[in-house]
Amino acid sequence: MNKILDVISDEMKRAFLSAGYAEELGKVTLSNRPDLCEYQCNGAMAGAKQYKKVPIIIAQEVAQKLNDSKIFEEVIAVNPGFLNLKLKPEFLKDYLNQMAHSSKFGLDMPKSPKKIVIDYGGPNIAKPLHVGHLRSAIIGESIKRIARYAGHEVIGDIHLGDWGLQMGLIITELQERYPELVYFDEAFNGEYPKEAPFTISQLEEIYPTASGKSKEDASYKAKAMDATFKLQSGVRGYRALWKHIINVSVADLKKNYRNLNVEFDLWKGESDVHDLIPHMVEDMKEMGYAYISDGALVVDVKEESDTKEIPPCMILKSDGASLYNTTDLATIMERMNRIHPDEIIYVVDKRQDLYFEQVFRCARKTKLVQPETKLYFLGFGTMNGKDGKPFKTREGGVMRLESLLSEINEEMYGKITENRLVPEKEARETARVVALSAIKYGDLSNQASKDYIFDMDRFTSFEGDTGPYILYTIVRIKSILTKYKEMGGSLVEVVLQEPTGESEKNLMLQLVGFNAMMESAYEEIAPHKVCAYIYDLANALNHFYHETKILTEEDPSKKEGFIALLVLTRDVLGTCIDVLGFQAPERM
Ligand code: ARG
Repeated sequence: MNKILDVISDEMKRAFLSAGYAEELGKVTLSNRPDLCEYQCNGAMAGAKQYKKVPIIIAQEVAQKLNDSKIFEEVIAVNPGFLNLKLKPEFLKDYLNQMAHSSKFGLDMPKSPKKIVIDYGGPNIAKPLHVGHLRSAIIGESIKRIARYAGHEVIGDIHLGDWGLQMGLIITELQERYPELVYFDEAFNGEYPKEAPFTISQLEEIYPTASGKSKEDASYKAKAMDATFKLQSGVRGYRALWKHIINVSVADLKKNYRNLNVEFDLWKGESDVHDLIPHMVEDMKEMGYAYISDGALVVDVKEESDTKEIPPCMILKSDGASLYNTTDLATIMERMNRIHPDEIIYVVDKRQDLYFEQVFRCARKTKLVQPETKLYFLGFGTMNGKDGKPFKTREGGVMRLESLLSEINEEMYGKITENRLVPEKEARETARVVALSAIKYGDLSNQASKDYIFDMDRFTSFEGDTGPYILYTIVRIKSILTKYKEMGGSLVEVVLQEPTGESEKNLMLQLVGFNAMMESAYEEIAPHKVCAYIYDLANALNHFYHETKILTEEDPSKKEGFIALLVLTRDVLGTCIDVLGFQAPERM
C-alpha cells in the first residue's frame, strides 16, 4: 500500500505539472506548524529561481489547480510561498479503511527478501549475566523482530563466549577443590557421568574465585592456561567437564532470556568454530595476507584514507593460541558457508568499534565475505546510573541482571497493588509484564548508540514517555472495547467513518504514518523510531478519549466509527510493542 506522503505528493506533483512547473517540486512533508496545517509543500520556494517568479505567485497558481482535489480539503498559499495543506475527511477515512484491511497495515513486503544474521546477546558461559548484556539482548531482539516484520529472513545467533581462559580457570578451580573427580583421572576410559558435579550457583561462585586467584598467583594462572590448552586440544576429561559447564550454564541462560522475552534461533558459541581455525589460518598465509610480526601472525588492515591509526588484525599469538579475533573471523567464514547471509549485524558495546573495524576489514581483505555482503556494527552506549556513572548496585558492585529485574518487578508490584485489590497471582504476573515494558522501552526509546540513564522512577511511571504509559493506553482501549461488547456491540467488520472532531482527526493522522515509520525503523535499524511513533499515537488516543463520549454516542454509525478507530489503534500499538519485544496485560 502506498505511503500517505507518497499519495499526497503525487497529487501535488500533478498540480505543479498542470500549472506549468516541474513535478519534482510537489514533494509534501509533515507540517512544521501543526497548529496551522497537517502537511506542507515548499516546492514553490524551491522553484522560484528556476522560473524567475515570486514564490507566492507559484504557490497560488498551484493551489488553484487543487480547488476540486479529492485529497485536500484545504490548500492555502501563504507568504513567502508555503502551501499549507489539510486532508479531506473522506480521503482519510478511505485510506484508513484500506489500511485496516491490508496485511501488516499496508506495509509493503520486499521483492527480494534479505537473509540477515544478527549476532547479539553474547553472554559468557559461567559468568553471571549483568546489565551490560541487557542492552545487547533488548536491542538485538527488537531489531530482529523489526526486520522480520519488514519481510526479511532473520536468524538470531547468541554467539556464546564459551571457549576462552574462563573455561580453563573453572576447570583449574574444580581440580583444586575436587581432585578425586573422574574427569581428572587420565587413565579413565569409561563413560563419564551424565550429571554435572556442580550446580549453577556453585559455578557462579567458582569463576570469580578462580579469576581472583589467577590475578594474584602466577602459578595458578599458568595452570589455568595449561588447562585451557588441554581443553582446546581435546583432552577427554576436560571436554566432558566443559560440556557440563556449558549445559548447566545454558539452562540458566535460557531461563533468564525467557524472562526477558528474548529468543535465539542459534545457540552457537566460540567453541563451534575452533576446528575451522587451522584451515582458515593456512589460507590466509597461503594467499599472502597473513605474515609474522614480532612472533605473532597478523593481517594488515590499514587503508590510505584512514585518519586514525588502525592496527593490524592479530590472528594468532606468538604461542600459536587463537584470539577473540580469530573466532570472530572463523565464525564469519562459517556463517557465509552455511547460511550465506546478505548481511550480518553485530549488536555489541560501542567500545568494541575499533575491534570490529579490524575484523570486518580483515574478513573483506581475506575474502571470507563476498563484496556484496554487508557487515554492520551496531555499537550501543552504556547504561548509567542516576549519578551518570556505569550502573552499579547500592553497594557499588556490578549489578546482576536478575537483581535488576527483581528490583523493578517489586517496584511495579508495589504500584499495581497500591490503590486496588488485585489477586496476588494476577498482580505478580501483571507486575512482571509491565516491568519488562519499563526496562525495554526505557532502553529502546533512546538512540542505541547513546549512553542513557537508568532511572527507575521515570521508567516505571504510568505517565510520560514510558513503557507503562503505552501499556496503560492499550489496556484503556481494551476495557472500552470490552464494555462495548457487553452492551451488545460486535467488533467484527466495524468500519471507520469520516472524522468529525479535531482530536479524532489527529488520531487518524497519526495512524496513517505507520507503514512509513516501520519501513524507516527497519532501514535505519532504529527501534527508537517505533517508540517515538507509539508515544505520539498513545497521546493522540488519550486526547481523543478525553474529548469524546464514545460509548454514549447516539448516532450508531458514528459510534461504530469510533469503535473501529479504537480497534485499529489497539492493533497498531500491539504490533509495535511486539516488535519492541514486550506485551500488554489484560488489566493493570
Ligand atoms: N562475549 C562478548 C562479551 O561479553 C560479546 C560477544 C560479542 N559478539 C561477537 N561476535 N564478538 O564481551
